[in-house]
Amino acid sequence: MKPIFSSVSVIGAGAMGRGIAQIAAQSGSQVFLFDNQTDVVTSAIDNIYTQWDKLQQKGRMASDAVLDCKQRLKPAHQLQELASCDLVVEAIVERLDIKTALLAQLEDLLAPDAVLASNTSSLSITALAAKLKRPQRLAGFHFFNPVPLMKVVEVIAGLKTDASVCAALSAYARQMGHTPVNAQDTPGFIVNHAGRAYGTEALRIISEGVSDFATVDRILRDQVGFRLGPFELLDLTALDVSHPVMESIYHQYYEEARYRPSVITAQRLAGGILGRKTGQGFYQYDNGVAQIAPEPQAPQVDNMPPVWVSPRAARRAELLQLLKDLGAKIETGQSPSAQALTLVAPLGFDITTVAVVERLDPARTVGIDLLIEDSATKRRVLATNPATRSDMREAAQALFARDGKPVSVIRDSGGFVTQRVVASIVNIASDICQQRICTPKDLEIAVTLGLGYPLGPLTMGDRYGPSNILEVLFNLQTVYGDPRYRPSPWLRRRGAIGLSLLHEEESIT
Ligand code: NAI
Repeated sequence: MKPIFSSVSVIGAGAMGRGIAQIAAQSGSQVFLFDNQTDVVTSAIDNIYTQWDKLQQKGRMASDAVLDCKQRLKPAHQLQELASCDLVVEAIVERLDIKTALLAQLEDLLAPDAVLASNTSSLSITALAAKLKRPQRLAGFHFFNPVPLMKVVEVIAGLKTDASVCAALSAYARQMGHTPVNAQDTPGFIVNHAGRAYGTEALRIISEGVSDFATVDRILRDQVGFRLGPFELLDLTALDVSHPVMESIYHQYYEEARYRPSVITAQRLAGGILGRKTGQGFYQYDNGVAQIAPEPQAPQVDNMPPVWVSPRAARRAELLQLLKDLGAKIETGQSPSAQALTLVAPLGFDITTVAVVERLDPARTVGIDLLIEDSATKRRVLATNPATRSDMREAAQALFARDGKPVSVIRDSGGFVTQRVVASIVNIASDICQQRICTPKDLEIAVTLGLGYPLGPLTMGDRYGPSNILEVLFNLQTVYGDPRYRPSPWLRRRGAIGLSLLHEEESIT
């Protein structure tokens, strides 16, 4: 198939530029790679050759295809050599002044109908185009690292970008084997915006002393199915990359509470405790392997008290069945006996508040997170309140661990860990839809491919119940009095009909 752009140049031969050059050559284009450091181009081309050789060894590329690709990829030594290209993708240093100077130079060099694309992750496309003579020819073309493996690319229209430019870049992305998603020119575009909730909410949970890093990671992996916990992810990305992104999006949205960064990462960044690459982050690394203390075993309890379940517990019938399966002695009276372990399962509220409102003895009250049905999780999470007696905490932990499923016990906070993080993800995603940054369908694609979440955020909301998510957010707002939990109007409206419905009907313009 003839490539949409037959002659492409990539400027900046760093981590991103070399990946873009690789897939551009694979798609059939003639590719020139330029960098203002000549040795970087040479090492980038060597590196790309090695990638192709490996693909050939694994049987994923034929030898003649590898040969063709190698012939199509050429170093450029001067910008002037790029004059005949019909697409230039810049992937140079993330500085507005340096990028705009390069784009202006390129514009003078290229044919008027050539397309200029920027791989910027945080600068505005409209701002990059502001001083160009043909701002309509510039669009964002935002790939993810490593480019050949991360199969999604955001195509971003600045305020003056021609729709035909975005359409051509999207078609070209498909030829490269990537999935394009269309985004409006807004801070963080789709993926970096939608990804705000996971780390920041987890950091907030830690900052409140609710639990430790490793436990929060285990809970989110085992209850929701995230591949990496938020602290494992922050360690992998490194705080010198992720903390500035958190700050940039927060400030670009004029201190919107939903994106508020954490002093925890600010301090760690200042201290050089960046993550895996420095050997120490939230975890200590030994030869690149995180050193994680083993999980404490569930306690042995010989005299298990009877159990009473609040009539207002979430998924009450399911909880009662689970208790039966675990061999618990269940009390059925209107109120708990004097010996009973008292179980509550709130959405958004903290255990202390629930005990007080329901007139339960806080010393015997323990909470369980049932936002997600027990059968769909690989871990149970209990929360105590400050008055919970240790024998009651131990009884609850031992009881719920009887079938071998791991149990984490955290301190009291509104909404447990999963409820807070999931509700925050769904809320920010809903607000992206509200702002029409992209279609709900593209949002789901961008988040699953770009962030590797187990479900798109809207599907996640539907899966766990939009009304449950709203209840969590409303109650978190009451507990914390913090506008970060204010539900997006889109979520409030869609709560009743489902979030991932009507994908096809929504456009961003
Ligand atoms: P990098 O630092 O690995 O590579 C940048 C390259 O650009 C360097 O080789 C440098 O010599 C070259 N360069 C700088 N100024 C130049 C100029 N005026 N003319 C020609 N070459 C110049 O950076 P990286 O990580 O590849 O990022 C490049 C762009 O991609 C940035 O805009 C960044 O925000 C964006 N990006 C980065 C991602 C990542 O995970 N690293 C992900 C998505 C986007």
